Amino acid sequence: MANKEHQKMYFYFINVAILAIFGVNLVHSATLSTEVDVLRALKEGIDPNSIPSNSFISSWDFTLDPCESTGAHFLGILCSIPEDNSSSRITILDLDGVGYDGFLTNDIGNLTELTIINLSKNKFRGPIPESVSKLSRLTALVMSDNFFTGSLPQGLRRLKRIQELDVSRNKLTGLIPNWITNFRSLESLRMASNGFSGRIPNLAGLWQLHTLDLSNNQLFGILPQLPTSLRTLSLSHNVLSGSIHSIWELQNLKMLDLSDNRFSGRIRGIVSLPEVISLNLSVNWFTELQVPRFAGESTRLEVLDVQENRLTGHLPANLATMGKLTAIYLSHNQISGPIPRSFGVRLGAPWRHVFFDHNFLVGAVPPEFAIQKIKVTGSLAHNCLKCPKNVTMCEGGQRPAPECAGQSVETSKISQ
Ligand SMILES: *[C@@H]1O[C@H](CO)[C@@H](O)[C@H](O)[C@H]1NC(C)=O
Ligand SMILES: *[C@@H]1O[C@H](CO)[C@@H](O)[C@H](O)[C@H]1NC(C)=O
Ligand SMILES: *[C@@H]1O[C@H](CO)[C@@H](O)[C@H](O)[C@H]1NC(C)=O
Ligand SMILES: *[C@@H]1O[C@H](CO)[C@@H](O)[C@H](O)[C@H]1NC(C)=O
Ligand SMILES: *[C@@H]1O[C@H](CO)[C@@H](O)[C@H](O)[C@H]1NC(C)=O
Repeated sequence: MANKEHQKMYFYFINVAILAIFGVNLVHSATLSTEVDVLRALKEGIDPNSIPSNSFISSWDFTLDPCESTGAHFLGILCSIPEDNSSSRITILDLDGVGYDGFLTNDIGNLTELTIINLSKNKFRGPIPESVSKLSRLTALVMSDNFFTGSLPQGLRRLKRIQELDVSRNKLTGLIPNWITNFRSLESLRMASNGFSGRIPNLAGLWQLHTLDLSNNQLFGILPQLPTSLRTLSLSHNVLSGSIHSIWELQNLKMLDLSDNRFSGRIRGIVSLPEVISLNLSVNWFTELQVPRFAGESTRLEVLDVQENRLTGHLPANLATMGKLTAIYLSHNQISGPIPRSFGVRLGAPWRHVFFDHNFLVGAVPPEFAIQKIKVTGSLAHNCLKCPKNVTMCEGGQRPAPECAGQSVETSKISQ
């Protein structure tokens, strides 16, 4: 918060500096009086007991003009600098996140020159006012970490210039509206940790979108069409199902988190997406992991988490050909067969986190696993391995013999 205040002071400094350079007459650039009324209404909507004495809103005492005052006064807003005698207009409302508790007044819609609203990390309650539809210049609407309820107001659809919409961690409900596809400038859409339900609409038209986070909701159905511009995609903790084959088209993807859903089928092409750094597909219903052979620097993948699925088959030996891989989580599957000998040399560098526990691996552990390398965390427990008890990764023991019946190096080879 001190940091943010700093930033605000800096903004104000620039504001004043520009005024000074262009010799704009300060006396005639006072804030439009109706906009001052809105700020008053905004402050009145907040419980005074929730306004800390050193906060932005406590600086709003209205003895000075909001747009003319600088430094310690009227923090949290930024104004346009008129070139003529017209009034200053409020263009940015960026509050500090100190837990202001109250309702966002409908009057906010009167600040029609606003380009950015940030109310993040407060305790605003009640619905998002329908009047935000009047803020046609808005490029960023950030309301994350509050207690807003109700659905996204219909009027939002008019905000054609919006680039960033963040309503994460509120108590919003209802559908993700179809009209969201018309936000052609949208770059970042975050609606995580709310009560949104229903299917995800076709988002392919959002061709500027690089970040989509819809995690922690109650969304169901299959993966929608997604724009190929996506770099970060998180849909974790929903009830989505079906194949994830279409993700293969997202050639710019760096981070993918689909964990804790009901996706099924094979994990294949996405492992070789050219930009992908982190894949979290844990806690789903996937049945097969296929890893192609990589050469040189052809993969950037660092983290592969596919634990708690229904994976069968052997450990993909080609994991050892992924040059950047540092963390592999394959725990809690039904993987059988031996640990490839080639995995041994990857331990420690580059592999730092290696979890193969709770599977049906058989045979001897490659000797490198028995060398106590401080740089590796991991586990081979609850398999059918010959795992010496004094090896750290073997701690926890192996499965009892009956569970391993039929799991031998030979039979698993035959079953291939
Ligand atoms: C905002 O505009 C509406 C409609 O013009 C008006 O009734 C209301 O008083 C305005 N609010 C403030 C705080 O000036
Ligand atoms: C601005 O207002 C002042 C005083 O009201 C007036 O003298 C001046 O001509 C005005 N300038 C413009 C550009 O309108
Ligand atoms: C919004 O405000 C919060 C809390 O002050 C801050 O942490 C965050 O960086 C701001 N976000 C944007 C996009 O300005
Ligand atoms: C993957 O997602 C699960 C569940 O959301 C989480 O617990 C786990 O820490 C994530 N894995 C990594 C490597 O971040
Ligand atoms: C584990 O025990 C075996 C024999 O009991 C011994 O040969 C080996 O050096 C031990 N390894 C470690 C890492 O202590």
